[in-house]
Amino acid sequence: MNLEQLEQIAKEGIALAQDAQSLEQWRIQYLGRKSALSLFFNSLSKLSLQERKTQGEKANKIHKLLKNLYIIKKDEIEKGANELNKGSSNFLDITQPGDKKTQGHLHPLTLVSRDIIASFEKMGFSIIEGPEIEKEYYNFDALNIPADHPAREMWDTLWIKPTSKKQKSKTLLRTHTSPMQVRFMEKNQPPFRIIVPGRCFRYEATDSSHEIQFYQIEGLMVGEDINLSNFKAIISEIIKDIFKDNVSVRFRPSFFPFVSPGVEVDIRQELKGDKSNNNWLEIMGAGMVHPALFKRVGYENNRWQGFAFGLGVERIAMIKYKIDDIRLFFNPDIRFLEQF
Ligand code: PHE
Repeated sequence: MNLEQLEQIAKEGIALAQDAQSLEQWRIQYLGRKSALSLFFNSLSKLSLQERKTQGEKANKIHKLLKNLYIIKKDEIEKGANELNKGSSNFLDITQPGDKKTQGHLHPLTLVSRDIIASFEKMGFSIIEGPEIEKEYYNFDALNIPADHPAREMWDTLWIKPTSKKQKSKTLLRTHTSPMQVRFMEKNQPPFRIIVPGRCFRYEATDSSHEIQFYQIEGLMVGEDINLSNFKAIISEIIKDIFKDNVSVRFRPSFFPFVSPGVEVDIRQELKGDKSNNNWLEIMGAGMVHPALFKRVGYENNRWQGFAFGLGVERIAMIKYKIDDIRLFFNPDIRFLEQF
């Protein structure tokens, strides 16, 4: 058989191959170690130099051609097999990369809230919840903030549209958790100690330290001889427990209409060997409950004293996890959330 004939027969043969098995047979026959072409290459050495060159070149060309035909045909058959299989219900494409299962986890604010709540629970505080949609009365008036009081400006408010003209009291999204002080005292007699975790809302422009929504934990402890020193001791202990680490606490005089005297609490993380850190961060407003509140809820005159505070959960989380922008908490960016 000469080379031309061989090429012809091989071409006809591959055209007939319909599946992987017949193609493999073809490959063994025309490209395998015992194929006519291989035997021909082996016998080249017996030819004269001139013959060897011309015949060798010819054979090489045919070999290349057959190899290419083989690759193309193989591809065709494989693709065809996949197409056929895809239609059937039990097709499993084992070449697909697997689905990576990611496990969800708690939001950093949930983690921090749980830590803070657990600390207060250890100190005997009960956990109470209140409504996010609040009456104007509880959010402001009952807290010594009448309509014309300048302190109302501290809480830019999101008001809720009245549902009817008959609705007497206005409603709003609570601007702090303090309304629960009065709500709780109306129904309960001292002594008690409670915390009220919850979401608050303010109508303000957002920036790296202000959000339109945020979480507070309100605290209220009332008894016969509760004083500001008790507050300082409890809060210092709680902060130590939350941070498990070196933090300094600072109390500054401040003003809130529903406490007297009022204070603000700042904390600062003490970095080892670094005395230069002067970054105090305000984490809560607090003070001794104003006697007018006790009077409003009908408590016996001059018998009770107590402290109240409102702690910013985001602030604690920002310090604890070194987050520099409050807006990240409410932004569903998985790259941020995955750090916790
Ligand atoms: N409600 C105040 C605020 O949102 C904080 C506060 C709570 C102050 C309790 C005093 C007592 O800023």
